[in-house]
Amino acid sequence: MKKILAYVTPEKHASVFDVIVAYDSGADVVVPYTDINAGDMRDIIHSCVFTRHPDDLKNTAIFIGGHDVDRGEELINFILKTFNELSDISRVSVAIDPDGAYTTSSACVVKIKNSLKELSGLNSTILAGTGPVGQIISVLLAKEGSNVTLTSRKFERAKNVCGMIKRRYNVEIKPFEAKNDETIEKAVSDSDIVVTTGLEGVQILPREIWLKFPIKVMADVNAVPPYGVEGVDARDDCREIEKGKIGIGALAIGNLKMKCHHELVRNLFKEKGVIFDLEKVYGIAESI
Ligand SMILES: NC(=O)c1ccc[n+]([C@@H]2O[C@H](COP(=O)([O-])OP(=O)(O)OC[C@H]3O[C@@H](n4cnc5c(N)ncnc54)[C@H](OP(=O)(O)O)[C@@H]3O)[C@@H](O)[C@H]2O)c1
Repeated sequence: MKKILAYVTPEKHASVFDVIVAYDSGADVVVPYTDINAGDMRDIIHSCVFTRHPDDLKNTAIFIGGHDVDRGEELINFILKTFNELSDISRVSVAIDPDGAYTTSSACVVKIKNSLKELSGLNSTILAGTGPVGQIISVLLAKEGSNVTLTSRKFERAKNVCGMIKRRYNVEIKPFEAKNDETIEKAVSDSDIVVTTGLEGVQILPREIWLKFPIKVMADVNAVPPYGVEGVDARDDCREIEKGKIGIGALAIGNLKMKCHHELVRNLFKEKGVIFDLEKVYGIAESI
């Protein structure tokens, strides 16, 4: 029986990246549904769960992509609500990974955790953290017991994102405005962990700033030069770049992210009715 993946996104286009990974991970057919909001989901869910015998439903699955974590979570909540209206034999598995944020962030935090072992009580700063990847790295570090600060070039944006995170994930993140070297220096001055999650090709943290402080780990997800942290190369894989300072680069994170993403899609077709939320995706990254 063919493995069919309904790829759902609120955006105008499906992510070609996600579609390729889905095929490479064993999906036989990927059906992209674009420009989707919660109101459109009921029909898609019914089409997925009522077309095949309940014993065969592990061969149909749903993947939620898009650019927006909040809208992705809204879709998954709607799917759960719709499942609850149906008999419990009528289920397919569902995964969520808007902009690769769940797999990338899980890979990044697993690498940080492997470097430091214990994250509880440590201070973390996520520079340019308002995008999907920065948001979810903040959530995972906070769930590991770290005190997290998230920065934006505009305080209001950081505050709004921290509010959304509190509402969706029930963790406290401190918003902070960092828009130039002076404010970036303030943001990282008492940090044990700094992660840069800015736009690709934009350097966020200069070497002369990080050299001043006892930062233990610096991780960067931007794979396009110039990288986010001056002195951390994309291939650095938990390498000591300066005495007492570990660097983790975007390709090292990306390597684990890709394994996690492939494993996520493979797992979708192993069993029906499993919801691969952030906690489960993080669990997959930890197990690799
Ligand atoms: N390594 C991997 O496997 C992997 C996987 C996925 C994504 N990525 C990379 O991860 C990074 C984050 O992805 P994303 O989708 O979360 O990012 P994003 O939404 O494109 O950008 C994140 C934040 O960067 C800030 N920003 C934008 N332009 C800037 C500029 N010129 N200077 C300073 N800050 C700027 C913005 O924050 P404010 O406007 O609030 O300041 C924005 O919210 C990207 O570089 C992406 O390519 C890597």
